[in-house]
Amino acid sequence: MSAELPPPYTALTKHPMLARTNHDESARFNFLTHLNRYLSGTLGPGNKLAYEKRVLPAFRAEHGRDPEHRYEIRDWMNQDPFHRMWSALKRNSMEMRQQNGRSTVLRQLDELDAQARQFNEHSGQLELDSKIEQPIYQTAVDIHCQPGGYHGEERPGDVSAGANYDVGIFATTGGALGGLNDGGGQAVVGWITKARPEWQPRRILDVGCTVGHNAVPIAAAYPDAEVIAIDTAGPRCAMARRARRGWGSRISSSSRPAARTCRAIPMAISTGCRPPCSCTSSRPNRCRACWPSATACSPPAA
Ligand SMILES: C[S@@+](CC[C@H](N)C(=O)[O-])C[C@H]1O[C@@H](n2cnc3c(N)ncnc32)[C@H](O)[C@@H]1O
Repeated sequence: MSAELPPPYTALTKHPMLARTNHDESARFNFLTHLNRYLSGTLGPGNKLAYEKRVLPAFRAEHGRDPEHRYEIRDWMNQDPFHRMWSALKRNSMEMRQQNGRSTVLRQLDELDAQARQFNEHSGQLELDSKIEQPIYQTAVDIHCQPGGYHGEERPGDVSAGANYDVGIFATTGGALGGLNDGGGQAVVGWITKARPEWQPRRILDVGCTVGHNAVPIAAAYPDAEVIAIDTAGPRCAMARRARRGWGSRISSSSRPAARTCRAIPMAISTGCRPPCSCTSSRPNRCRACWPSATACSPPAA
């Protein structure tokens, strides 16, 4: 039973740019870490049961066939009482996570902004493009209930969105990514070193890097490579530099969209982001072929 419990929120590794949580803020995140683990680990499989036992038989009875795409499944699942309850709990836990993260960050935003400025100014490792156009899927809805979405700002150039992401992702994922929240980057490295041991990239692109947590294990695995971490959401990139141990001079971050950047980089990696939606305009065939599971893209042939 204890193996199913998540690590406590205090297992989150601190770094200089991580917003500080007081007792109550930590306790709320601790509760949310457990709640999220319970919702995905214990209650989550109930959705499969709901589908197999109720939704699919009802769909077949009405249509005389199986669902053809996920939208049909979604419409029908949204009528199932268990799935509705589970979805409401998920939504509620995300709203609570955002509320706790934002209030934590906003009370110390001046300090965080000053620290980010100190880290970034004259570093040559951060490039922000204020004219960058956010893709429509970023602006159509506040993703993960983040007010203002991934790219939102409380005031021009602040790091509130990135700092909020950073302080709460441990709770959102039920602690599943580890104390450094870099489980995605570690998984990518694990897969590449096993499946593609011959790859020795000179330049690596981390697409949709947010605060750069996954760029660090990737850079560590390829000590001779330059790592470029990009994200359309500038406030995330501004959080990345030197925010964590291991962020050496080989890693830079930039507010650039994937479509403009992928072409030039030998190895492109993405965790928790769907490259095809952003890359199709520049390298349609390459991305569809190389990113079936949105993990890693092989070096271009020429
Ligand atoms: C779910 S987060 C993934 C974050 C991180 N890779 C992780 O594993 O935790 C998706 C990130 O992709 C970024 N993003 C979405 N579309 C993008 C694009 N076309 N180019 C660059 N970044 C993009 C978003 O701003 C967001 O920060």
